[in-house]
Amino acid sequence: MAGGSESMRGFWILAQFVLLLVANVKSSADSQLCEPHGPRGPPGPSGPPGPRGYAGPIGMPGPRGRPGLPGLVEKCPPLPQSAFSVKLSGPFPGPSQPIVFQEVLYNHQGHFSPATGVFTCSVPGVYHFGFDIELFQSAVKVGLMRNGTQIRDKRAEAGDTHEQASGSSILELEKGDRVWLESQLDKEESEKGTTHTVFYGFLLNGN
Ligand SMILES: *[C@@H]1O[C@H](CO)[C@@H](O)[C@H](O)[C@H]1NC(C)=O
Repeated sequence: MAGGSESMRGFWILAQFVLLLVANVKSSADSQLCEPHGPRGPPGPSGPPGPRGYAGPIGMPGPRGRPGLPGLVEKCPPLPQSAFSVKLSGPFPGPSQPIVFQEVLYNHQGHFSPATGVFTCSVPGVYHFGFDIELFQSAVKVGLMRNGTQIRDKRAEAGDTHEQASGSSILELEKGDRVWLESQLDKEESEKGTTHTVFYGFLLNGN
């Protein structure tokens, strides 16, 4: 009999639940259909601004600008130049005097005097001087001189073969300094055989 009363209880609970459900549905339907609505109120005031957004992606590069105006053209003064090259085919004069050369290969600025065989510095700076001697059956001894002081000397002897003798020097010169090449052998000694000599000098940079 206990089972019968239990099932009765279950029935009642179910019935109450269904009733509640129906009442609920009915009341919500009633509120939608029957509750009276007033006119729509005015919109509320706008809310405070929202938080700052994330930064957007980097934009594309802009178009190429127009070319600028041409710059000012400044005329540079020409660099100072000084160079010479002279040649002698034949024996040297006697010792302790500048060798005078027959042929001027280059002397555009005229700083070398073909008449005296002396280079006179007009542009102060660092110079390169040198000589090249080709000899056959003869002997030479030459000195590169500056204002009477020997800077460099060279001695060479040639029998029945052609020999070469050369030398060079870097010199820093003041305006008015004089440079020349001179023989240091007696005239008779250097007159034998054949000798070809080139003497040259040029400015490396002006001060
Ligand atoms: C070389 O001689 C010239 C002319 O005699 C002179 O003006 C110059 O100062 C001398 N230079 C040196 C370094 O002695």
